Amino acid sequence: MRPEEAYIRTLPKAELHLHIEGTLEPELAFRLAQKHRVSLPHASVAELRAAYDFTDLQSFLDLYYALADVLRDRQDFHDLALSYLERAHEQGVVHTEIFFDPQTHTARGIEFGTVVEGLHGALLEAERRFGMTHRLIACFLRHLSAQDAERTLDEVLHYREFITAVGLDSSERGHPPAKFAAVFARARRHGLLAVAHAGEEGPPEYIVEALDVLQVQRIDHGVRCDEDPALLQRLARERVTLTVCPLSNVKLCVFEHMTQHNLKRLLAAGLSVTVNSDDPAYFGGYILENYLAVAHALELTREDLASLARNSIAGAFLDEEAKRRWLSAIDACVAGA
Ligand code: ADE
Ligand code: ZN
Repeated sequence: MRPEEAYIRTLPKAELHLHIEGTLEPELAFRLAQKHRVSLPHASVAELRAAYDFTDLQSFLDLYYALADVLRDRQDFHDLALSYLERAHEQGVVHTEIFFDPQTHTARGIEFGTVVEGLHGALLEAERRFGMTHRLIACFLRHLSAQDAERTLDEVLHYREFITAVGLDSSERGHPPAKFAAVFARARRHGLLAVAHAGEEGPPEYIVEALDVLQVQRIDHGVRCDEDPALLQRLARERVTLTVCPLSNVKLCVFEHMTQHNLKRLLAAGLSVTVNSDDPAYFGGYILENYLAVAHALELTREDLASLARNSIAGAFLDEEAKRRWLSAIDACVAGA
């Protein structure tokens, strides 16, 4: 194991941007396709993996939504989440905040409760076995209507005790955050926290809208913020957490090569940048591989890596006492390295 790898593994980290549907590995997709007697768009695991050659966000989403069709019962959601949680634990994730897309499942006739109960069972198991803590974030699909999001929020509210926040994902271009102003306002009135994908493919104005109109606590991706100097300053001043996903950004052609990624420049500008895996089964790696990719391509120092881990804890939906504990553990890890 390279020294950086051991160091990154031992840094306590929170993962704040992870779509559980994006952890569906081809092997599990084929097993579930067989179980439910559904056909997949590719004949073998190897053929399916070869199709993971995306040109932009939409080319990925088309395959991602098609494969999600194999997720049908509570056990499927449990198995999906548990295999992610085991891997995250091995890589030093101590707290994870998981996105799920209810509409991807309810539109196929899968009950909202089937999804939440399956995921929740796995999260409790990871807490018991590894001491890993968690939050669940229900995302609205922005390519669907605001009314559809309102109906989804009604279901979220039935399972309020399991869900901490709402989010916004799917096709960004042409679907500005303001389209969902009312449903986010209602979610906030019920005490739900909020996050939104913005500035992944969409313009920096979408980041401003997510902050001002949706009143989100964090921005998912946000990498296009550097096109607007005033926004960059604001994000630094307000210590807004950006949940950056480096391997995703290269796979979806947001940056041509990892050496061109702006993560190090954003860190140097004082932004609270974090590293996350987004859809690890599709993008070539989980959180450790994301940290390693930026560490090497951008020549990050050990202090940079510790800052990324600290930012992940500071930006998590954890109480202050838990944050203090993990930040001290990071300090101890840095001192012992
Ligand atoms: N859904 C899953 N991954 C996504 C991403 N990177 N951007 C927007 N929506 C998504
Ligand atoms: Zn995402």
